[in-house]
Amino acid sequence: MEPKYFFTILFLTTFLSFQLSFSSSTQAAQQNKYSTFIKSSCNSATYPSQCVKYLLPYASAVKTNPLSLVKVALHTTLRSANATLYTVTQLYKTKSITKWEAAVLKDCIEDIKDTMDELKSSIKEISSIPKSKDKHFAISNAQTWTSAAITDENSCLDGFSDRKVNQAIKQKIRNSIVNLARVSSNALYLINHLSV
Ligand SMILES: *[C@@H]1O[C@H](CO)[C@@H](O)[C@H](O)[C@H]1NC(C)=O
Repeated sequence: MEPKYFFTILFLTTFLSFQLSFSSSTQAAQQNKYSTFIKSSCNSATYPSQCVKYLLPYASAVKTNPLSLVKVALHTTLRSANATLYTVTQLYKTKSITKWEAAVLKDCIEDIKDTMDELKSSIKEISSIPKSKDKHFAISNAQTWTSAAITDENSCLDGFSDRKVNQAIKQKIRNSIVNLARVSSNALYLINHLSV
């Protein structure tokens, strides 16, 4: 190989590897910035560790966009509500339950369906914000829908306070609803602290 080419190739490979390591370190810094954004946004949420656990996986999608964070929080809440709906529906289909238990479970299914509708309405309000003329009105509507969702979760739970419901059923519903209520409270917290 002629020395001239050798140096050109040496120069190019050195240059390229510099470029690569530079871009991967800026990428790491960026990732770090996105994770920090989620963690600091969750810091004063009602249930901070739950907040981080559910939202950190979306750090690279959310970047540092507060609106995007709220949308992700609402979508995760909707998925949680859907999981709760599944749990309650499975229990409702159990043959061994009493008539009374069936009635309580049926009410709960309706509550959770309402919760899901309300969460969808909240997502719609949040999604309308970028093009909305009255962004504060949209936020206030999202707050109303999300609070209504939480109220419906609680009314499901209230239905089981009666002693006539089997302890195992009560515990299953409780675990599922308590988790859903925490995820919902965090979403509401993020909406309440949204500045647009
Ligand atoms: C709810 O879960 C079912 C499966 O159990 C799925 O088909 C449906 O798409 C889910 N809906 C939402 C809104 O996540």
